[in-house]
Amino acid sequence: MEKKVIYSAVQPSGNLTIGNYLGAIRNWVKMQDEYDCYYAVANMHAITVKQDPAELRRRTLELVALYIACGLDPEKCALYVQSNVPQHAELTWVLNTIAYVGELSRMTQFKDKSQKHAENINMGLMDYPVLMAADILLYQAQYVPVGADQKQHVEIARDLAIRFNNRFGETFTVPEPLILKGGAKICSLQEPTKKMSKSDENVNASVYLTDDRDAVIRKFKRAVTDSGNEVRAAEDKPGVTNLLNIYCAFKGCTVEEAEKEFEGKGYGDFKLAVGEAVADVIGPVQAEQKRLLSDKAYLAGVLSAGAERAYKTARRTLSKVYRKVGFYQGE
Ligand code: TYM
Repeated sequence: MEKKVIYSAVQPSGNLTIGNYLGAIRNWVKMQDEYDCYYAVANMHAITVKQDPAELRRRTLELVALYIACGLDPEKCALYVQSNVPQHAELTWVLNTIAYVGELSRMTQFKDKSQKHAENINMGLMDYPVLMAADILLYQAQYVPVGADQKQHVEIARDLAIRFNNRFGETFTVPEPLILKGGAKICSLQEPTKKMSKSDENVNASVYLTDDRDAVIRKFKRAVTDSGNEVRAAEDKPGVTNLLNIYCAFKGCTVEEAEKEFEGKGYGDFKLAVGEAVADVIGPVQAEQKRLLSDKAYLAGVLSAGAERAYKTARRTLSKVYRKVGFYQGE
């Protein structure tokens, strides 16, 4: 039987946080044996906000090295750069003609980013979910493992797949978001009701995967907690609850087990333990990423093999789409 397909991507648009790791990459690793996986570096999405070109190029390679350092095996999954497979842009154009301005302008992320980048509300920013739908639909992906913030975008990919299939006949697999509990929404250490984000201006709000052990421990020490002194998850304790989530995700334990472990201990001991748990995991990942980045030829080989594999699948889907919509493709 053919394996089901998984698709996901991360933008090389800043330093990745432990939110990106827990909400996405960590889960991708678990799927690579059972599914046919495509994982991209979404550099076309990244340029919807201003990027420094040299930095974008550097971050692209850093991200691929990080994928591998986190445990993705390039022999098992296709690791590639989005712009190296031209069908992403081509399918986006076709999907644009069935996507409505109204639905795109209502997207939460578009509204947030328009506010944040008021001087640069470009068409790409609005079209972002259509490009993301093209990514997913090109590979006929069944599941899309993402954090909770991307749910709305995967839903629009579903809507577009259904709309296209209804109008032109069965063409696309209708994808589903795969949002795993625990790491789906890691919050800011300074404002624990807000998502932890790679673009947060306050560097103490986010723990980056590049932070060294001292920085990680310092940031957790400074993390905002709540009144009281009990280490317990509760709706009125968003700070402690977030830290418990992070601790459990990195330690592989349940919230109940962690609450028991910290019974009678204060916030200080708890925050130190969270910092150590995080640093213990990301330290070796950083070392491996550094090692991989010293071998650019190896990374180039991984990316060209990944792009070739992605291209084969993408070309097949796009050709089907062109046939369905009536584009002349030769006799
Ligand atoms: P991006 O680069 O913003 O984030 C990458 C992944 O990390 C997840 N994530 C989080 N998860 C938990 N807690 C957080 N605080 C947190 N912050 C981010 C995101 O949900 C995401 O899974 N548009 C996508 C990239 C993309 C894509 C795709 C994803 C492009 N094409 C196709 C899936 C399928 C994005 O901007 O992710």
